[in-house]
Amino acid sequence: SLSGLDLREEIDRLRKERKVVILAHYYQKPEIQDLADFVGDSLELSRKAAETDAAVIAFCGVKFMADTAKILSPEKIVVLPDLEAGCSLEDSCPPQKFRAFREAHPDHIALTYINCSTEVKALSDVIVTSSSAETILEQIPEEQKIIFGPDRHLGAYLNRKFGRDMLLWPGVCIVHEAFSETEMLKLKAQHPDAPIAAHPECPAHIIDHADYVGSTSGILQFAKTMEGDTLIVATEPHIIHQMEKAVPHKTFIGAPGADGNCACNICPYMALNTLEKLYLALRDLEPRIEIEEDLRLAAKKSLDRMLEMAA
Ligand code: 13P
Ligand code: SF4
Repeated sequence: SLSGLDLREEIDRLRKERKVVILAHYYQKPEIQDLADFVGDSLELSRKAAETDAAVIAFCGVKFMADTAKILSPEKIVVLPDLEAGCSLEDSCPPQKFRAFREAHPDHIALTYINCSTEVKALSDVIVTSSSAETILEQIPEEQKIIFGPDRHLGAYLNRKFGRDMLLWPGVCIVHEAFSETEMLKLKAQHPDAPIAAHPECPAHIIDHADYVGSTSGILQFAKTMEGDTLIVATEPHIIHQMEKAVPHKTFIGAPGADGNCACNICPYMALNTLEKLYLALRDLEPRIEIEEDLRLAAKKSLDRMLEMAA
């Protein structure tokens, strides 16, 4: 039984003993963010995973992120506290169907959001994250035809912003899809001076009201530098933990779902990781991410291009 253990103390002991780096995404529970060596967005976490000299990466995020860490750092042991921590975007894009989509459009390149399986990365030309998509798209000539998957809202946002006509895969993030425009406008009416910051995984009817659109790191930066003392946050609400730590005198309000509060916008996959499962992962060095070498190398090509182009 784990009941007598001080989990934080045990995690601290094991992380030193086993030379572990604990990487956490901003959507993790506060207690996990607080003991991580590094908290970041998808691009920053990929970079950390590629650069670390730790022997073990304990990835507190979802499976595609831990897979990415393993693709970039194959000699490291990569553990994910709960292997069931998936992503609705990854689920929306089965590799066989994605392959058929590519084959139906042979004159298009595949620009693909990092929220996808290793197989889909291997079928793609360039991977993007929300913080690197704009820089990368700007480097691709306008006449180049592009298919973009799996997030149709991010793709549509990029199409609108840059006047492109990328063909979009129909995937969505169930978390960002759940914000209610009506409830958000009610909230805005109560706080007319509060800007709205939104993640580009939100549908257009949310993004259209946003004063700032960007990745989790971008939104956090906006929270720190904006004028005014109240911000409406249209992304997974656990990021508010970092905002409150960085600028404790400001007020952060999670954008609501249809029920009028932000609890329904907690990512159920991210929430599967707990301190207890992290402790067990460090103790047992399981569950581990393993990727077959040919597949890993194929997926690494498109990820390396992202890392080069994101600069
Ligand atoms: P970023 O942290 O890269 O903005 O990604 C958000 C997200 O939904 C991760 O699953
Ligand atoms: Fe996937 Fe959305 Fe959860 Fe991110 S927040 S892991 S995109 S379901």
